[in-house]
Amino acid sequence: MLLSVFAKQLPVISALITCAACHGFVQFIVADGKNYTGWDPGFRYQNPPPSIPGWTANNPDIGFVSPDSLAHPDIICHKAATPGQAYVDVTAGSTLTLQWFTWPDSHKGPIIDYLADCGTAGCTGAKKENLKFVKIPSTLKPGNYVLRHEIIALHRASNVGGAQAYPQCINLHVSGAGSKSTSGGVPATKFYKENDPGILFNIYGEVTNYPVPGPGNIWTGA
Ligand SMILES: *[C@@H]1O[C@H](CO)[C@@H](O)[C@H](O)[C@H]1NC(C)=O
Repeated sequence: MLLSVFAKQLPVISALITCAACHGFVQFIVADGKNYTGWDPGFRYQNPPPSIPGWTANNPDIGFVSPDSLAHPDIICHKAATPGQAYVDVTAGSTLTLQWFTWPDSHKGPIIDYLADCGTAGCTGAKKENLKFVKIPSTLKPGNYVLRHEIIALHRASNVGGAQAYPQCINLHVSGAGSKSTSGGVPATKFYKENDPGILFNIYGEVTNYPVPGPGNIWTGA
């Protein structure tokens, strides 16, 4: 399920906000028939914040991680992120729906999903710097995982430092009969460099072969 489609094709709810620089975030997650709440930047006014599977982030502008932060811990799960305190329950092999709130049509780019095993200690206390991500599963062994779902907006990416990453992290509690563990994972701070093909990219020409950026370790569950 490596999604390399363009953001334009996302199901978009855009009616509620009108502004020139709107961005977005994952507002809802649906798995096995249940609808969960993602991290909403408005939750920062709640103390304590609600117990949800979405990781918290300091993103009141619903914006992106600074393009010069590709090696900074902010790239892992968005700015100053801390673990979500609940989980999405999902059976390995079933469909997970991520519903974004607002997305500007101009912000085209790849949608990429990564997964990191939190181990038996679980994800709610995970140290993000220690998470090793692979690009996604289906025969996955039951357990606790962080799903790192990301759009990289490329509307300014023809200049070095122009690509805008919008990572969103969600805790998953995976059940099922799978037995394959993720291996060969990479920390998110090592995914991208500002000159990588696909990070430095002109979307305004004719886009035929987009090189999806990130490590080459696409985990097939094999
Ligand atoms: C999840 O629930 C919210 C709030 O009721 C609703 O607005 C949203 O459309 C639901 N999402 C999906 C994908 O069913």
